[in-house]
Amino acid sequence: MPKKIIAGNWKMFKTNPEAVRLVKQLNQKLKRSPAKKSSVVIFPPFTALSKVSDELKGSKIETGAQNLFWEEEGAYTGEVSAKMIKSTGAKWVIIGHSERRQYFKEEEKIINRKIKIALLNKLKVIFCVGETLEMREQNLTKDIVINQVEWGLKGLLPEHLKNLVIAYEPVWAIGTGKTATPKQAQEIHALIRDILVPLFNEKTSRNMTILYGGSVKPNNAAGLFAQKDIDGALVGGACLKADSFYRIIKAGEKSF
Ligand code: 13P
Repeated sequence: MPKKIIAGNWKMFKTNPEAVRLVKQLNQKLKRSPAKKSSVVIFPPFTALSKVSDELKGSKIETGAQNLFWEEEGAYTGEVSAKMIKSTGAKWVIIGHSERRQYFKEEEKIINRKIKIALLNKLKVIFCVGETLEMREQNLTKDIVINQVEWGLKGLLPEHLKNLVIAYEPVWAIGTGKTATPKQAQEIHALIRDILVPLFNEKTSRNMTILYGGSVKPNNAAGLFAQKDIDGALVGGACLKADSFYRIIKAGEKSF
């Protein structure tokens, strides 16, 4: 069975005091009523990663970074390495998010290098894939997702994938309030699981956690989580408030 995960990507939100406030509220709620069926991971901005990770010591909530650089270290002004991320107490990193593909021109080869350096440094990876509206309208969704998965995971072995999770995030559903229907999402999740068989093996495919992301809210989470191949969510906007993120976690408790 794939592990169920509810992840919150804070994107470029929250100063340090705001971050601490949010994580305290969330932690309190989860202490009172813990998540038993899913793991909870949050991705604050780099600037708050140490503080938030310290705040969560002893709790079950894990932390991660939203990006990393593909080299171990060096003269790369402004960049952050896997080891630096690990030294904050974070265990995870998001790679291949559509906002990084779109605004920072991150391409498949770069994403593949980032995944490799993360795994080499024992960071767990959420690897994001997904099509734009234009691609969907041209009926290219499946080709695009297959290509992204094949490129992103090039050169990896089945054992590496134990520390990797895939997130399907259709770009047209991110921050738009337009969620993919459970059926639309399930179709692509099943496709991703299918292509992992020839790329790796049956077991890797069966055990892969595949998250859905794109306007997941407390009122649509249960419908998504009820789908066979949806193992949780990568939440954006709705994770910026403790209450709505907690309600999505609770939807998982009912549906998984
Ligand atoms: P929204 O939930 O705001 O649509 O963002 C999804 C996302 O991009 C998570 O990584």
